Amino acid sequence: MSSRLPPSFVPSGRSDVEPFIAMDVLASAVARQTAGHRVVRMEVGQPGASAPTPVLEAAHAAIRGKLGYTEALGLKPLREAIAAHYGRAYGVEVAPDRIAVTAGSSGAFSLAFLAAFDVGARVAVPTPGYPAYRNLLVALGIEVVEIETTAATRWTLTPDMIEAAHREKPLAGVLVASPANPTGTMYSPDSLKALVETCDDLGLWFISDEIYHGLVFAGTETTALKLSPRAIVINSFSKYFCMTGWRIGWMVMPEILVRPIDRLAQNLYLSNNEISQRAAIAAFDPRSTIELDTVKASYAANRAHLLAKLPGIGFDELLPVDGAFYVYASVRRFSNDSVAFARRMLMEAGVAATPGPDFDRARGAGYIRFSFAGSEADIVEAVERIGGWLK
Ligand SMILES: Cc1ncc(COP(=O)(O)O)c(C=O)c1O
Repeated sequence: MSSRLPPSFVPSGRSDVEPFIAMDVLASAVARQTAGHRVVRMEVGQPGASAPTPVLEAAHAAIRGKLGYTEALGLKPLREAIAAHYGRAYGVEVAPDRIAVTAGSSGAFSLAFLAAFDVGARVAVPTPGYPAYRNLLVALGIEVVEIETTAATRWTLTPDMIEAAHREKPLAGVLVASPANPTGTMYSPDSLKALVETCDDLGLWFISDEIYHGLVFAGTETTALKLSPRAIVINSFSKYFCMTGWRIGWMVMPEILVRPIDRLAQNLYLSNNEISQRAAIAAFDPRSTIELDTVKASYAANRAHLLAKLPGIGFDELLPVDGAFYVYASVRRFSNDSVAFARRMLMEAGVAATPGPDFDRARGAGYIRFSFAGSEADIVEAVERIGGWLK
């Protein structure tokens, strides 16, 4: 028998997406730790804290009961709890029927992209930005239009940029996160409003990734849900709610996409994990809020420490850290290759961080992302280690 595979046994072209370098750094950091070295982990964008106590209690109770498939769009009590959250947090009323419970915000992205865009559609995203947007859109046969942002617009997209890209060749949608990963930068309420209105006027779907809401340290967060009934709003229990491993998030759908997304969810996933859904209801319990706000206060202390200390050790060009738990810093003072710089920092200083090319293929070699979602002691130690190493 020939050992050569016939040409049909090859991976699809659409699966040829780029790897996530952060995951390679994570693997190297774990390998260093396993070999007995001390490593301060600032490469992963996930809370160091575990889910709040009421969530853990609800999960324990759920396991003792019967678990099964739920409705494809999620358990009604969870959809109602999420709708009530919009009332409390933003003063906006939303029908629970417009809420889809998803496998993290990642699950919401695949449903939203499939429901809103046909193959060949063009979707604009800002750079620097979260790499999975680009890679998932590419895998679905959607053309990604990367628009470079700069300090001139506070690293955000503006109506002019969207209009110019649309004039060049029509877009079908625009996707932004606020606060963003890796920059932490936020749109002001007015700039978000202007962007949403431009998309509405041009007939473009506006997808708002609000996963870092609740983690805002400067400025005012506003939901796109308030700005247009056509906005697709995506959020998650992963970040503020400290539930990354539970794989649970949600999306607020425009009316016209409810049934298409329901049909897609029925066929793609059948339903979400029932334990996580039952547990997530308890994430809105006031006792959870008290615990989560304590975690948030430790991020605020970490952020203050980094903003005070990083410039003194040579990271004097930082993007605005309005929210989320990231500092995106220029490394150009030290290196023009942030992948090599991050590797050396891991091996020699014992601090893991993510190099910029994940987030910005053109300019990322000049930047590095530090996550400050770890403990306050870790962040203080990391600064000392990096400072000593760079001396
Ligand atoms: C901007 C942004 N959106 C979405 C996600 C996906 O998160 P999840 O699928 O855990 O909700 C992340 C994860 O880091 C992110 O940074």
